[in-house]
Order: sequence, then structure tokens, then C-alpha cells
Amino acid sequence: MALVIENLTRRFGATEVLRGIDLAVADRELVALLGPSGSGKTTLLKIIAGLDWPNAGSLTVADEDWLARRPQTRETGFVFQHYALFPHMRVRDNIAFGLTVQPRPRRPDAAAITARVNELLQFLQIETLADRYPAELSGGQRQRVALGRALATSPRILLLDEPFGALDAQVRRDLRRWLRHVHEASGTTTIFVTHDQEEAFELADRVVVMGAGRIEQIGRPDEIYDHPASPFVARFLGHTVELPVTLQAGRVQARGLDATALPRRALPDGPARLFLRASDITPVPAEDGRYRITDLASTGALLRVRLTESAGVEMDAEVPRRTATALAVGQAVHLRVQAGCVFVDPRSATAPPARPTVPADAPLSELKESLP
Ligand SMILES: Nc1ncnc2c1ncn2[C@@H]1O[C@H](COP(=O)(O)OP(=O)(O)O)[C@@H](O)[C@H]1O
Ligand SMILES: [Mg+2]
Repeated sequence: MALVIENLTRRFGATEVLRGIDLAVADRELVALLGPSGSGKTTLLKIIAGLDWPNAGSLTVADEDWLARRPQTRETGFVFQHYALFPHMRVRDNIAFGLTVQPRPRRPDAAAITARVNELLQFLQIETLADRYPAELSGGQRQRVALGRALATSPRILLLDEPFGALDAQVRRDLRRWLRHVHEASGTTTIFVTHDQEEAFELADRVVVMGAGRIEQIGRPDEIYDHPASPFVARFLGHTVELPVTLQAGRVQARGLDATALPRRALPDGPARLFLRASDITPVPAEDGRYRITDLASTGALLRVRLTESAGVEMDAEVPRRTATALAVGQAVHLRVQAGCVFVDPRSATAPPARPTVPADAPLSELKESLP
């Protein structure tokens, strides 16, 4: 493992901002820290870079105590969302900066610095920008330069804190592919912070979902998408619909709901909550349907179907517009669900949870903790 963090804790006064972080990042891996604002992502990056210190816990890189190293010798490159490039320096001098301020024994001579900068300009596909000033660059170009500056000293660990956060959607998508390529070709270990799910999933080998100073789940993108480990992760990943259901022999049941497509769950009989994405719900016209269509809105590709239940509960379903020509406002429907995740609801569970007979989606202890 390149980087191992164990039981890392950081408090500001009485506020615990990091509450026992355990994380191991492999050599040359690209890991995304994904979580809402305030979940502790930046604090964790700063601790790795040596710009902040933990109250407890350990951090090692290749088995060496990294907390004992001074920030200047941590061999990390850092890019922030608003990386202030030096406005009075041309792009090539901005990139050279980290090399020119190295301690004398390690500082390359002028010719070697020029060669390294030229190599990076070419590698990052920004040769044509070399003699411009930051004010003459677009936001996306500035972040490419910022990455060049972070890479100049050949860091072992690259730390990127929402580097594309201020850019528009198309530029972000272009930069994602570019960054993935740069990461692979440069051979660094990269930790990328974002609150954008799509960005994290598209870029990273593994995604670390953070909430309120804890790691909620670590896994490959598809694993996390398909099997959120807690209600927190489910909500954060777009399961906006939550329905009370009953579990019986591992099957999800509720009036007006056809959940036969869901796999059986290794969860005890009794009340539970079903978490759904709008795109997992198909309204099916039915005379005795429990839900009524109250609004239809097209986004072109999708039809957003507003549904109201007799008790007044409202939700949205999303279906491909061209397949949904039979739907109309006022219609009664029942809901067929294609996918979803189920968590036992500890507020209403009566019996203590039975021991699962097949692997469950998540340990029950975690579910209990993360439910309000
Ligand atoms: N220097 C500080 N002093 C006090 N509180 C801080 C400080 N830095 C961060 N915090 C608090 O720590 C929490 C996590 O912050 P941060 O690591 O920036 O989260 P994120 O990057 O996920 O948005 C926030 O509630 C923030 O207000
Ligand atoms: Mg932050």
C-alpha cells in the first residue's frame, strides 16, 4: 500500500471534523473522496499534505511515518479549486516554480528545469500556452497549468481538491478524461476530492463516500452505485424516493407496489424502508392503482412523472419518453420497481435483527447508526 491512514481524528474545538478515518490507498491508484460539503474531505487532504495535523491516528506512506515529515518534504502535489497561479508569471514560470524553490542540494540547474517544464507542457498538451499569463487563460486551461505546477517536482502523491469545481459541465467532462490519462501516464498515486457523483464515478478506481467526518463506504464505482451501504449513501447517490415497506421472507411488499424484480434480501421479516431512484420506478396504469399521475414533464429524452399517493405522499418517476406514450395526467397507476435498496427501519423494528442467512447488502449495525 502506498498510503495507509489509521483511526485519524481531527477536532476543531469541540467539533470532531474527522472521526476515526481508516483508509488504504494502493500505489498508482486513483481514489475519489466523495461527500457533501462539510464532510471533512479538505481537512483530510490537508493532513496528508502536511498543511494540517490530526489530533490522533497515524498516516504512513510506504511504511514510513508521514506525520513525522515536514510539509516541504512530503513529496505531495496539491491542486485546489481556486488555485491562485502567480498572476505576474508566465505559464512556464508558474510550472517551474516548485523546482526553483527546492532546497539547494535537490534543486535542478536552470537547463534541467527548462527541460522538465518543456516535458510537462508537452505531456499536459499545453505547449501553446507556455508564454501566456494566467489572466490570458480560460478556467480549464488554468487548472491544467495548476496540475503542471503540482506535477513538476514528480510527487509521489497527487492531491486534488475539487480542481474542476468552478468549471462548466462540458469542460469538466473533457478534463476528467485528460486527468485520467495524466494519472495513468505519470504513475502517481492520486486522491481526488469532489462532491459530484458522476465525476467521482467516472474518474476513480475506487470511491470513498464521506459523511460528517466518517467514511460511509469504500468500493468500486459500480459496487457503490448498485449497493449503497447505508441510507446516507443511498440518499447521497440519488435515491430520492423512500417508501415504508414490509419484508417477508426477504421479499419487499407494499400496497400498490410490484417489487418482484428485486432480489430477495437477507433481512429479517418486518418493517423496512425502500430507497428508490426516480429512474427505477415504472408507473403501470391500473384501475385500482394506489398512485395517481398529477403531472408530466418532458426533458426530451425522459418523461418525469409526478405521482401522488392517496395519503398525500408525492414522488417522481422517470421513464424514457418514447416508451411512455400511454401515460396521462389523472391516471391511476401502480408502481413497478426495477432496482432499489432496502434498509431495516430501527425505529419501527420490533424483533432484534435475525442473523442473515445469506450476505446482506450491509451490516445491520451500520444501518442503525446511520438512520436518524
Ligand atoms: N480551521 C478550521 N477551524 C474550525 N473549523 C473548521 C476548520 N476547517 C474546517 N472546519 C470545519 O470542518 C468541517 C469540515 O470541513 P472541510 O474539511 O472543509 O469539509 P469539505 O471539504 O468536505 O467541505 C466543516 O464543518 C468546517 O466548517
Ligand atoms: Mg472542501
